[in-house]
Amino acid sequence: MLKIGGVEVSTDRPGGLGTPVDERPLLFRPIEMRGVTARNRIMLGPMSQYLSIDGNVSDWHLVHLGQFALGGAGIVCAEETAVEARGRRTHHCAGIYTDEQARGWRRVTNFLKELKATPAIQLGHGGRRSSVRSPWEGRSPLGESDKAAGLAPWQTISSSAITHGVGRPTPIALDRRQIREEIVAWADAAKRSADAGFDIVEVHGAHGYLINQFLSPVANRRDDAYGGDREGRMRFALELVEAVRAAWPADKPLFFRASVVDGKGGHWDIDDTVVFAKELKARGVDFIDCSCGGLEGDSSLPAVPRYLPGYNVVYSGHVRREAGISTVVVGLVTEAEQAEAILREGKADIIAIAREMLVDPYWPAHAARKLGLKDWLDVLPENYAFRLAPREEERDKRNRAPTPEIPFRRKD
Ligand SMILES: Cc1cc2nc3c(=O)[nH]c(=O)nc-3n(C[C@H](O)[C@H](O)[C@H](O)COP(=O)(O)O)c2cc1C
Repeated sequence: MLKIGGVEVSTDRPGGLGTPVDERPLLFRPIEMRGVTARNRIMLGPMSQYLSIDGNVSDWHLVHLGQFALGGAGIVCAEETAVEARGRRTHHCAGIYTDEQARGWRRVTNFLKELKATPAIQLGHGGRRSSVRSPWEGRSPLGESDKAAGLAPWQTISSSAITHGVGRPTPIALDRRQIREEIVAWADAAKRSADAGFDIVEVHGAHGYLINQFLSPVANRRDDAYGGDREGRMRFALELVEAVRAAWPADKPLFFRASVVDGKGGHWDIDDTVVFAKELKARGVDFIDCSCGGLEGDSSLPAVPRYLPGYNVVYSGHVRREAGISTVVVGLVTEAEQAEAILREGKADIIAIAREMLVDPYWPAHAARKLGLKDWLDVLPENYAFRLAPREEERDKRNRAPTPEIPFRRKD
């Protein structure tokens, strides 16, 4: 029950969706993940907003994320949220490394839960890709002019002291003590995420950020136990996941977003991900969120054609089958029928949608109508559905009746 200005508003139709679960499209069947049940299999993909001050979220995040819960998403995943200050990519990235930040998130999770959405948070660390300006300023490195404006650059970290590209900040390579401290920061962030009311934690291990910088030999040139062969390069991620799992309640699911293959010329590929996913599963990861890219190298690996509809579906299906783990798929899934087919064909368990939701936050309700769910209006809050139901009935009736003449002038 949602309370607005002292008025109680039911956000759930009596009994929820009237259609029995096994008669619904797969997209609208609830999914149980440990002790958490999401109302459907649609997840808002994490999207950085670059609108936080000192890592704190604001009314923007409440309204931005709230709109997707109103629209009917089962899982609403908050943007990549830094586990420590130097892990933010820009000065305006969100964080969860202070109690004050966690309290800010609590307001958001309360609202999402009142709207029957499952709140998720993506924990991340930019590593060597940090200390930059926003994407609309070309992610260029912070410099003297930013310092003068109170937005000073900071020392970045990585697996090795290698830049992300020409002119990018040079990181320091973490030593073993610093690696241990880093892992503690992730575990603390997971604890704070539980305090903040999140029901799912997703570890961001993709897109060329810190964890990915340990996994791929493009960035990791270490010659100690955290580098070298695949086993060594996986060590940081696996120790980190063990610590997060131990800090995160056992009855709540843990997701891991992976770049299933590196970007153009990269070295990490699908076979590496299958081995890695099995190791993650053994350490209590419940879902691999299948994405790609972020690191470019000198091999013959071509770039993933990211303009193709569902460009990660083939990866998700492969990982799900070969590693025997549940998956989330993301990447140009825009159509209801496409999403339903991915589930039907066993290529993913959850469909994450990012950009399409920005133009259509009501995508889940529209998808329910397109897939023929009889009670599709039940995807919306009751006070919306109540006023829409008569309009829909009227429209159906009229669609069946002959088109009436529009009166123009008296007939006498
Ligand atoms: C504005 C924006 C911000 C994004 N921020 C994140 C992020 O914080 N973490 C992440 O893993 N991916 C991020 N992504 C990638 C999306 O989660 C998603 O993987 C990608 O957009 C492809 O899915 P889509 O075709 O449904 O948009 C972002 C994408 C956009 C458009």
